[in-house]
Amino acid sequence: MAVRDFFKGKAAVITGASSGIGKDLALLWAQWGCRVGLVARREDLLERVAEQCREAGVDAMVFQGDVTDREAMERVRDQAIERFGFVDIVVANAGVGGLNPASCFDLDIHRRTMEINCVGVANTLVPFIPSMIEKGDGILTTVSSLSGFRGLPKAASYSSSKAMQGIFMESLRVDLRPHGVHAFCIHPGFIETPMTEHDEFTMPFKMPVRRSSMLISKAIARRRRVYLYPWPMKLLTWVNMALPRWLYDRVLPVLSGQKDTIKPRLL
Ligand SMILES: NC(=O)c1ccc[n+]([C@@H]2O[C@H](COP(=O)([O-])OP(=O)(O)OC[C@H]3O[C@@H](n4cnc5c(N)ncnc54)[C@H](OP(=O)(O)O)[C@@H]3O)[C@@H](O)[C@H]2O)c1
Repeated sequence: MAVRDFFKGKAAVITGASSGIGKDLALLWAQWGCRVGLVARREDLLERVAEQCREAGVDAMVFQGDVTDREAMERVRDQAIERFGFVDIVVANAGVGGLNPASCFDLDIHRRTMEINCVGVANTLVPFIPSMIEKGDGILTTVSSLSGFRGLPKAASYSSSKAMQGIFMESLRVDLRPHGVHAFCIHPGFIETPMTEHDEFTMPFKMPVRRSSMLISKAIARRRRVYLYPWPMKLLTWVNMALPRWLYDRVLPVLSGQKDTIKPRLL
């Protein structure tokens, strides 16, 4: 089946749809005939994305809300199911990047990163599980990161939040498999979005967002449980994972090209 046919007629809820990866997935899937529910905090941006989706001929809903707000995410579930009947795909994409060097570690940035990237992912996906189990169908996916496989320098908060997503999705996958519900974890390398519009460190093999959306869509349609891309960064990640700790500790700070002046901040 062509990838676009997989999405045709389905309904998807996507968090972080006001910008970057989430916005582009919504626009692409709308072009393919997928109804979309768009979640983020910046309502004006969401409305613009929704308008573009409607111009492609599909129903598009806007949910202004914060993924850290559990009740708000339950309302997203209620309203999306009421409007679409059934939500086939939920993408927990909303997230923040961040730098947090150990020498000047900021606990507020750490807490915020965990609230959005960890609790927010659970708040997004978990409300949809009962309806998916009832139907014996559905796809839950999160947009983690290749940075979730080892603790990257000056990124203790971001790296560990993304590692959590991988393990969280693996447990969901095992539990939900007998119910016909799929749980996937997507691990992108560097993608051209507002999150990577800075020069704090080198970003090899950075990829245009539309190419990224095509690869994510293919991975979902082909039911890839865990998907790492682009392939040169996947290879580098494997090499990283194989490095002994004494070598990793010396090589990674050099390879990452990070400036010594880096201060804690959300990206
Ligand atoms: N770009 C990359 O290179 C890259 C690589 C690996 C993984 N990722 C992951 O991909 C995901 C999307 O990132 P991106 O690159 O597309 O960044 P982006 O352009 O900055 O988009 C982030 C999105 O998340 C939303 N968001 C942030 N905090 C939120 C909250 N508390 N509640 C609801 N929505 C929230 C933002 O919307 P509002 O501000 O309007 O709420 C925005 O739509 C993130 O999880 C990121 O970690 C990105």
